[in-house]
Amino acid sequence: MSDLLDHATTPSSPPATTPDPWWRQAVVYQVYPRSFADSNGDGTGDLPGITARVPHLVSLGVDAVWLSPFYPSALADGGYDVDDHRDVDPAIGTLEQFDEMVATLHAAGIKVVVDIVPNHSSNRHRWFRDALAAGPGSPERERYVFARGRGEHGELPPSDWTAVFGGPAWEPVGDGEWYLHTFAPEQPDWNWDHPEVREDFLTTLRFWADRGVDGFRVDVAHALVKDMSSPLPSAAELAADDLPDGAHRFWDRDEVHEVYRAWRAVFDEYDPPRTAVAEAWVATHRRARYASPEGLGQAFNFDLLRSDFDAASFRRIVEENLRLAAESGTSSTWVLSNHDVVRHVSRYGLPDGMDEADRARWLLSGGTDPAPDLERGARRARAATAFLLALPGSAYLYQGEELGLPEVADLDAAVLQDPTWLRSGHVDKGRDGCRVPLPWTAEGPSHGFGPGPSHLPQPSWFAAHAADVQDRDPRSTLSAYREALAWRRRLRTGEELVFEDAPEGVVRFRRPGGWTCVTNFTTRAVPLPPGRVVLSSGAPADELDGELPGETTVWLLPAD
Ligand code: NOJ
Repeated sequence: MSDLLDHATTPSSPPATTPDPWWRQAVVYQVYPRSFADSNGDGTGDLPGITARVPHLVSLGVDAVWLSPFYPSALADGGYDVDDHRDVDPAIGTLEQFDEMVATLHAAGIKVVVDIVPNHSSNRHRWFRDALAAGPGSPERERYVFARGRGEHGELPPSDWTAVFGGPAWEPVGDGEWYLHTFAPEQPDWNWDHPEVREDFLTTLRFWADRGVDGFRVDVAHALVKDMSSPLPSAAELAADDLPDGAHRFWDRDEVHEVYRAWRAVFDEYDPPRTAVAEAWVATHRRARYASPEGLGQAFNFDLLRSDFDAASFRRIVEENLRLAAESGTSSTWVLSNHDVVRHVSRYGLPDGMDEADRARWLLSGGTDPAPDLERGARRARAATAFLLALPGSAYLYQGEELGLPEVADLDAAVLQDPTWLRSGHVDKGRDGCRVPLPWTAEGPSHGFGPGPSHLPQPSWFAAHAADVQDRDPRSTLSAYREALAWRRRLRTGEELVFEDAPEGVVRFRRPGGWTCVTNFTTRAVPLPPGRVVLSSGAPADELDGELPGETTVWLLPAD
């Protein structure tokens, strides 16, 4: 076919003798269980709902699903406040229904990844209740991060640290002690220096691996290990940007990798070895440690998700991440949307250059100031997705992006569930707008999500995005995703990528076998490079007429 392998600039393949692990180039579809499909009409998505929708995942062509938490939870943080890591929330299903779901997915050739939340439990966890009951100085309290408050009676917090969702990071328990919660007060942080905590998580990993789970997504993987020695630094000292790598009191400490080496030993007890992907919001050069084969194996790369739709930025991100992945002996990951960020159709429809704080202000305006150009957002989103799916490494898709869903930016304050809304003092509406239950059908009480209303209200415009409408339309976003995934499967022959010359604002790269991906990030048409267009994110191939329109991606096979 081609001599491409000889010229690869970014080799990241394992040696030829190593069988390719399934996850290296997988397309992983994120299911947010409470908002995917509701089988019993209680308004909450559930495991039988997921099982019933496996045909959708099959027709989409994904390799794996990642399930956000489905464990028992009071939902102080959408399920990331876990009461019991080895059970299913009764509102979502049972362990038997979990087994049925896994069996159905496996029978369809789809792997299963579950979310592990190791930084914190919920405040309803048995060990946290024991800690509260046992009182200061007890061994039960040592499993969490308790500290005596300042002031004569411990009436002041041990430090002025703030939580990620806003407000203080310490909560008093009424006896002079306070506990640390990096996130909501209902999410007390574990003490990872405690051997029982370490052991308990190994038990949890085996529990799910024994049930057939193929991999784990590790929540805030960079937060677990903390240096709580006295005196505690102030928030200002912690925020100083001159701290050397690994020296922050609780983010990205080097010792955290001991934890993951122990997890790796558990993963390797299984055949095939289980895998994991770290959610670690760390500097790019620190990410490889989480992704190393002795550690979790992969780490999310959120660089594209944080980038504007911009040729130079996309190219730089790809070059940097393929280099890093090759250096650490793994493959890269690519993400445009997940359950924590404004959906990328909306992001790309807003003016370039907006950051998270700008988007929070935009949400506060009900999504009107500035008004997004959603047609443009959808066009760019499809082009970016086709770009991403042409890359080597694994692609993470978030439920609903295959329907081209924009953010639901005008949710009424009364229905908001995200703790961010309350904890930010009502300045940040939070993440509910990307978690609205999916529209499966144009008609029906919750657009086919379930037999009753959904736990977050769906806007009437969801009807136009419904899966059943798009299923019949060869030009729909759903059809575009199916087509791209099918071509990706056919063309996937290796992990090499070579950039080729392209006009300003255009990125073009070649993959093994000689096929190329070209994205025009500008708004003007450019001449199409030679080759046979097999995939177009915009107008169908036979309508292109020698030109690549603006904000469009095409995949080309070599000309015969
Ligand atoms: C990251 C998760 O993606 C997010 O949804 C959650 O709120 C925090 N971790 C805390 O668990």
